Amino acid sequence: MTKNRVVKCVMIESLSIFNYLKIIFARFFNNYYNNFMQKPKRYLVTSALPYANGPLHVGHLAGAYLSGDIYTRYLRMQGEDVKFICGSDEHGAAITIRAKKEGTTPQAIVDRYHPVIRDSFKQLGISFDKYHRTSSKLHHETSSAFFKVLEEKGVFNEKTSEQYYDEKFNQFLADRYIKGECPKCGNSDAYGDQCEKCGSDLSPTELINPVSTLSGATPILRETKHWYLPMQNYQDWIAGWLEEQQGKEKWKKHVIGQCNSWVKQGLQERSMTRDLDWGVKVPVEGADGKVLYVWLDAPIGYISATKALTDDWKSYWQDEDSKLVHFIGKDNIVFHSIIFPILLHAHGDYILPTNVPANQFMNLDGDKISTSRNHAVWLHEYLEDFKDVPGNEDTLRYVLTMLMPENKDSDFNWQEFKERNDKELVGLLGGFFHRTLTLIHKNYDGKLPEVDASQFTDLAAQFSDLQTDFDKFPKELDGYIHNYEFRNALTATMDLARSGNKFLNDTAPWKLIKQDKEAAAAVLAKCLEIVATLAVYVEPFMPFTAKKIQGLLHLDEAMIAKVLKAEYDFDIPTLSKPEHFFKRLDDKLIQAQIERLDKPKEDEKPAVKEYKPLKPEITFDDFMKLDIRTATITAAEKVKKSSKLLKINVDLGFEERTVLSGIAKHYKAEELVGQKVLLLANLAPRTIAKIESNGMILMADGQKLAFTSADDADNGEQVS
Ligand code: 2FM
Ligand code: ZN
Repeated sequence: MTKNRVVKCVMIESLSIFNYLKIIFARFFNNYYNNFMQKPKRYLVTSALPYANGPLHVGHLAGAYLSGDIYTRYLRMQGEDVKFICGSDEHGAAITIRAKKEGTTPQAIVDRYHPVIRDSFKQLGISFDKYHRTSSKLHHETSSAFFKVLEEKGVFNEKTSEQYYDEKFNQFLADRYIKGECPKCGNSDAYGDQCEKCGSDLSPTELINPVSTLSGATPILRETKHWYLPMQNYQDWIAGWLEEQQGKEKWKKHVIGQCNSWVKQGLQERSMTRDLDWGVKVPVEGADGKVLYVWLDAPIGYISATKALTDDWKSYWQDEDSKLVHFIGKDNIVFHSIIFPILLHAHGDYILPTNVPANQFMNLDGDKISTSRNHAVWLHEYLEDFKDVPGNEDTLRYVLTMLMPENKDSDFNWQEFKERNDKELVGLLGGFFHRTLTLIHKNYDGKLPEVDASQFTDLAAQFSDLQTDFDKFPKELDGYIHNYEFRNALTATMDLARSGNKFLNDTAPWKLIKQDKEAAAAVLAKCLEIVATLAVYVEPFMPFTAKKIQGLLHLDEAMIAKVLKAEYDFDIPTLSKPEHFFKRLDDKLIQAQIERLDKPKEDEKPAVKEYKPLKPEITFDDFMKLDIRTATITAAEKVKKSSKLLKINVDLGFEERTVLSGIAKHYKAEELVGQKVLLLANLAPRTIAKIESNGMILMADGQKLAFTSADDADNGEQVS
């Protein structure tokens, strides 16, 4: 009987004392988390809600999203109860300023970018359980109710003060609506809420020579009322809370450093409302024309998204057994580690984050990523340009994880991207998978005989070295993931492939097979065990590749569960011919990317898809007036002297009709015959080019026929 039995073989007699101590040490260290921390019952993982005012670039992905995704995927894989939450941040000055610039509405801006952002995440395997929107009704209700609780508890101070006002635009100027010189560092481009150069938190009245970013004019001062969060009253509480958190779980140095520096400077009151017409209306009388401060409503977006996901949302937000982790970029630290915790604490019904593992920034070619200079690698462009490269989504995930700015800023460049793809993914990981599977496929018809590896004493040293690495791997990985060290976690995973490759080279089964086919089978069984292990453990980092290789090995859920328990007593069915998982990158493709950087985009059509705004709502009765029928095209011909029109005959089952359709530029007449379409059948007849058109074939965007896939529907059936 031949079997691809994966046999665990620990040759303890040949394990050196040194290696043994290494394992014990690694186990102790990595068990730290599970032993000293109480295991949470469930996890709620959030990634910062991106502003829906433009597409995403690699810096975003490497900042707050890949980290959250790897963490969540790993927890899911381990059978933990975890929910991963995100959504578009659709309020705030970033959106309204963009709308003003383009002469459109904030709603049109968010409706354009929300789907672009959501789709890029999806295509790159960012596995949110919910990707929500802060412009939704549910979010408005949730954040409004949150504010009301705080207001009723007397948390806010209501205060009237003088604020800058743009007389031309009739608008108060807060945050990004006002610029001026930073009083701390002299930067002439500081915003009303922050100086991006020195990182100082500012208020508009502190700016030297302030100007409105709307009109460029010098603003005047005018009185207005707002609701302030007196953060100074929470100074001692937040300091104590931060310290208490450190006793539970290590926070990154740069995160706790930033928090401590804020606390040390002394917390000050901060206005939680704004004079704007875009946002969540302040739910109190006498607050017309005022909305919630975007940094109050955005983090509440995590709560509303969880509500939208599950009726059980309270377990995740209100049960002390739940662990809340916020993945963010460094510019969001104060909001997630100080302001939001104060708000949650003041509200009283919610748990607080256990950790805020913020990343620093990713640069590009040694320079800050800049959307205005187009010094950026856009995700939607990458997905388009690399669509023919196998495994391209995972290549980007891999390189960005390896370069993740976990503790300091990092740098992305295309040469390194290619090098890492070619050497590490094609050469090392893909090479190990491919070599192992090809050797089994070619020499054993895809099925290895069952052999006892311990009988091949000549190979004992090689087996033993490999086993040492193999044994320590899962615990090591677990420790890194729970410590939010994703670069190390991925490196440890690649190191296992490295050990496997070394073992393959040291034992050379392609030679061994000629003298001892059984010994070679024992070697390959071990390699197969590692391939199966990698197939499971690469999933959090490279989910697309994991799926492919798991499919090739026919790993089902039960087998995956066994791999996770390091039990290898299962059979892998006959292996088919392996495919290549990655491909070396073409120099021309990389060169084109390099040339694309920093090219101004002004003259180009917007790179992102423009979505038409929804038409006004209709009633059910309006809809019922439409009589849409299934029909088959029986004939089509071009209308003379028209480059656009086709004359089309359709069979409606109960009658034949002629309709005109403006699709000649997109379809040849002959390719339409036999196609099943949807016809608006009760549209009043119209005569165009002396031909009467009796109905309208439904089309997407007035160009592409909306063919119905209901092929088995008879012609003339009513669609509703
Ligand atoms: O910095 C940003 O892109 C913000 N839109 C992040 C918001 S995170 C959260 F609070 F919603
Ligand atoms: Zn400054």
